[in-house]
Amino acid sequence: MRLLIVIANPNQSSFSHAMAATAKDALLAAGSAIALHDLYAERFDPVQLTGEAANTRSSDLLVEQHCSELANADLILVFHPNWWGQPPAIMKGWIDRVFRLNTAYGYLVGVGPDGVPVGLLRARQALVFNTSNTPIEREQSVFGDPLDSLWKSCVFGLCGVTNVARRMYAPASGSSDQQRASSLIVVNALVAQAAQEALRKSHSSEQTILKVTLHARDHLLKCACPCVARPGRIGSLLH
Ligand SMILES: Cc1cc2nc3c(=O)[nH]c(=O)nc-3n(C[C@H](O)[C@H](O)[C@H](O)COP(=O)(O)O)c2cc1C
Repeated sequence: MRLLIVIANPNQSSFSHAMAATAKDALLAAGSAIALHDLYAERFDPVQLTGEAANTRSSDLLVEQHCSELANADLILVFHPNWWGQPPAIMKGWIDRVFRLNTAYGYLVGVGPDGVPVGLLRARQALVFNTSNTPIEREQSVFGDPLDSLWKSCVFGLCGVTNVARRMYAPASGSSDQQRASSLIVVNALVAQAAQEALRKSHSSEQTILKVTLHARDHLLKCACPCVARPGRIGSLLH
């Protein structure tokens, strides 16, 4: 199982970082392989220069690495503060450059960019952890909680990640050590549960692929076409 953690907060002692560290420990305890990216620490370049038309490959090797890890992840975890109802600009740029056409989403044959895209990400599950100073009720009633629809519908939903759980910790700045400690316990539990679920799904999808492959092999063995006489051909289907 492959896991992806992405953090966007310039303050290393922020609660966003504390949550990400807790999540990483929970996932390591579950014995998972983790790709972790602190966008500020790695100086991710958020500027998408090419425009949408050419948004399928990048000369920036870090962007290519992110695209590949995003496409292959079974579970994606995102951590960032609420800045004007949005992620920090560095994370907006990460979305622009990494949730790419033909990697994260695409169009069926005969459907143009004005049609409905299909999601291409492998992950079916994501967790989004936000911090904010505005109490949650006010964020929802006054501002409509734009981060909720951004992640659940506009980004992950569009790219095929149907199960998105989001938690907003607020007000973050004035919270006590005790409040933070109990929130981190919740983070730990949520992440451990999501990892178990993703692991189960990743096993069952691998079993489905194996079943389809074995079915194809049986079909080839039964059929009279010349490929049956070439075991190498069948072997190549199985690898
Ligand atoms: C540029 C900027 C914009 C911000 N905009 C908002 C906002 O719109 N709503 C809000 O509640 N807090 C806002 N904040 C406060 C941050 O959300 C808050 O500092 C952060 O959630 C604290 O958590 P942390 O420890 O993870 O950094 C803003 C902070 C900055 C620096």
